[in-house]
Amino acid sequence: MERTFAIIKPDAFAAGNAGKIIARIYDEGFKIVGLKKLYMSKVEAEGFYYVHKERPFFGELTDFMSSGPCVVMVLEAEGAIKKWRDLMGATNPAEAADGTLRKEFGSNIGENATHGSDAPETAAFEIPYFFSGLELLA
Ligand code: PPS
Repeated sequence: MERTFAIIKPDAFAAGNAGKIIARIYDEGFKIVGLKKLYMSKVEAEGFYYVHKERPFFGELTDFMSSGPCVVMVLEAEGAIKKWRDLMGATNPAEAADGTLRKEFGSNIGENATHGSDAPETAAFEIPYFFSGLELLA
């Protein structure tokens, strides 16, 4: 079993889509081993996305992620990292396939409804960024 880190971003939360996204997560066979709602600070968003700090959209991305509440989760499944990336769809909702979360709930490349770890090393950084071991219940 593999674990990945996922976020229901502020746009999807504000639009009232968190429940629908969580229902899809269960329907697709993930186990939710950690889940909480939080309001990320700008500094927390900058730390979380530090790998993108030189990219031109860094300010916009971290402003957006600290603009309202979101839901952070740890998902478990066979091949959870790729499985969740596949369910999310392409980063840009305009390019995302039908049936994916970003196609259904995303608006643009910044406000794209969900986040997911892109590799095991990324998940190993992202999961403990927001969760202690005690909060993860298999
Ligand atoms: S990916 O999936 O990491 O390969 O995508 P990438 O294009 O590298 O984008 C990384 C994250 O930055 C967000 N992003 C943007 N935000 C605001 N404005 C612009 N122009 C923009 N371009 C990319 C994108 O949604 C990715 O967020 P996460 O949370 O990692 O999915």
